[in-house]
Amino acid sequence: MKVQQFSRIGFIMAAAGSAVGLGNIWKFPYMTGMYGGGAFVLVYLITIAFVGFSVMVAEMLIGALGRRDTVGSFERLAPPNQKGWKYAGFMGFNGVIIMTFYSVVIGWIFYYLFEIFTGLPTSTDTAKATFDALVGAKAGVQIFWHTVAVVIVAYIVYRGIKGGIEKFNLVLMPALLLILFGLLAYATTLEGFGKAWDFMFASDWSKINSEAIVRAVGHSFFTLSLGMGAIMTYAASLPKHASITKTAFIVTFMDTLIALVAGLVIYSFLFHEGAPAAQGPGLVFISLPVVLSHFGTLGTVLALLFFLALAFAGITSAISLVEPVVQYLIDRFDMTRAKAVVVTSLGYWLIGIGALLSYTKAWGETFSIGGKPLFDILEYTTDSILLPLGGLLIAIFVGYVLQKDRVYSALEHEMGKTYFNIWRFSIRYVAPVALVFMMLNLMGILKI
Ligand code: PFF
Repeated sequence: MKVQQFSRIGFIMAAAGSAVGLGNIWKFPYMTGMYGGGAFVLVYLITIAFVGFSVMVAEMLIGALGRRDTVGSFERLAPPNQKGWKYAGFMGFNGVIIMTFYSVVIGWIFYYLFEIFTGLPTSTDTAKATFDALVGAKAGVQIFWHTVAVVIVAYIVYRGIKGGIEKFNLVLMPALLLILFGLLAYATTLEGFGKAWDFMFASDWSKINSEAIVRAVGHSFFTLSLGMGAIMTYAASLPKHASITKTAFIVTFMDTLIALVAGLVIYSFLFHEGAPAAQGPGLVFISLPVVLSHFGTLGTVLALLFFLALAFAGITSAISLVEPVVQYLIDRFDMTRAKAVVVTSLGYWLIGIGALLSYTKAWGETFSIGGKPLFDILEYTTDSILLPLGGLLIAIFVGYVLQKDRVYSALEHEMGKTYFNIWRFSIRYVAPVALVFMMLNLMGILKI
């Protein structure tokens, strides 16, 4: 099988596009609010530095050496007596499970992009009513926007690595950076900026608990797109002489920077208006529009820019969630790209409808299992089980299964001996321990 190759900058933008997503601009800021600010941010940063970055290098390495779809890469790299490792490659399917709800949220963002023009809500009650009406009652509207999201993503993926994924990332990522840094520049002029800075960087350890730690570890994986074969699939198209270490570093750095910038921007606006921090998932859909309404016409422009950035971030991540399965279907079943995209998209589109209906009043019960809405089940399963499992398999495979010489010759010239040894220690010991700890904790087996 012949996979197309990215250009070097195209790969960086595509991998960063995958990493920078709703996780950075929607989830990270509200999680920071929920878990008390600075201490949560610090745990998140430590995990990114000591675990996330190492696993990113490992996942890229599997893709770059394997040069196949995720199943094919594991199969090709595993020693002859351990070909069962190919099943680890099915982590590529986690992406489409995520897409079932990720595309629903992108749909909400599209809805808001238009809703903004009808005027921003001036009170939390009205804002909450708008959001609740959308999620709880307007099934048809949600299905419409969910479908729009699926079609846009399908089109980009259908255009392939060069003509779709690389091209769109090369436009959308700089646009996203421009908007976010523009918003940051404006936010620094607000009184709330200093408070936002303190909230995010002054660690108050009394607010941290085991749940916050586990969520920070989990989120650091989600935000870097690790454990689902997305980065691995892209890395199969890595230009031959590109440095894995350098690329992984740039992507990790950009992802972290953007999460912090998004947090600073949102909290500057919020604190400027004296709004509280802990708001949960409604933070950008409920609190932010209300706060921005106080800025008059400028507020509408700011809201528009913010939701555009969110939409761009969502789309560039979504394509990386779909591509692994598409690549798998092309490789394994000799499907044309068009057919693979249609099959994949139809599948998650349908389940996505179930997910969005599970939040509505009318269908909620039908689409719940054991009292839990399908949306939450899908999110929990991917976020808390499949993703750490994927990360663990990557760490074990690269740390213990792949021949050391092979790993060494691929990375040593990039890292030098000392850093290589530190990285290898992290992959063999730190990452597995952190991930196992996290999984046990989430299953309620090990509580700290
Ligand atoms: N990293 C993306 C975000 O932060 O929103 C989400 C994501 C994309 C997770 C791709 C996993 C993945 F494979």
